[in-house]
Amino acid sequence: MKEKATGTSYAKIIFFGEHSVVYGKPAVAIPLYSVDVSATLERTVIGQTIHCRYFDGPISQMNDNLQGVRVLIDRLLNLFEANELSFRLTIESKVPAERGMGSSAATAIALVRAFFNLFEKPLSRLELLTLADIEEKITHGNPSGLDAATASSEAPIWFIKNQVNEQIEFHRSNLCLVIADSGIKGKTSEAVSLVHNNLIDEPDMAMPLIDQLGQIATTARQALADSDQVTLGRLMSQSQTDLAKLGVSTKALDQFCQIAITYNALGAKLTGSGLGGCMIALAKNQRDAQIIATKLRQAGATQTWIQSFKNYEFTTG
Ligand code: MEV
Repeated sequence: MKEKATGTSYAKIIFFGEHSVVYGKPAVAIPLYSVDVSATLERTVIGQTIHCRYFDGPISQMNDNLQGVRVLIDRLLNLFEANELSFRLTIESKVPAERGMGSSAATAIALVRAFFNLFEKPLSRLELLTLADIEEKITHGNPSGLDAATASSEAPIWFIKNQVNEQIEFHRSNLCLVIADSGIKGKTSEAVSLVHNNLIDEPDMAMPLIDQLGQIATTARQALADSDQVTLGRLMSQSQTDLAKLGVSTKALDQFCQIAITYNALGAKLTGSGLGGCMIALAKNQRDAQIIATKLRQAGATQTWIQSFKNYEFTTG
């Protein structure tokens, strides 16, 4: 066993397929490389403490909204038969919480990796995602698993719940995405319940939207392969219309989408669960992306990021 070990992960952005992924439709999601999480475990002489943005102190005294993390730590200590281990766990996260960027999943992934690194044990992708799911289920109810799959990936992924989780190639796509945080918190569990209730109360309205969002993800995958940015932009804006009809957009997100389009974006949509959180826009180039990001900050975005795929090479796996 090592004296000290770290695990890392990324924030995620859902390019296509949020919400419909819960109902078995495909999704395309991307790790946001500049927004990461690290979990560092250091062995100490006495005690088990955690130091993160929400809590600083003994793990036994962690508050209720960190229950998922606590249960996951217990599970990892059981797994390594190390319940008596003394350690200091430090979690540093650049991921804004409750903004649809997969903050909890990224924390869970970094945590699992840190434990396996400390105990010098190999960790399969399946085991990593199964363990992260323990935390995700407590925090979000019944998540599709897309957040953890993306937070743990080095490349964009094509994902179908319980079926497919594979990396896809973006390197010919020349994509330039702008991500903007509205600064408004949105709870994934509430957004997922809202869509679920819509499906029960108004199936004739909601089910075709879920089907269409899944179809959009499939078409988008082909558009990515063809480097067809115009189609990708159109599909993003169509997704936004469908997600708004499902009730998960907000005034601020609608406004951000409009601003992005006004300043030359090819398409824009909310990303993640909605009811707050972030928007993504597809810019034609870096210069446009900078302008869009500036305009969004002027309109109230608390943070913006630009992620370009021009120079990335990804493998299909
Ligand atoms: C949340 O990041 C994405 C949703 O599709 C929920 C899920 O996939 O579990 C809204």
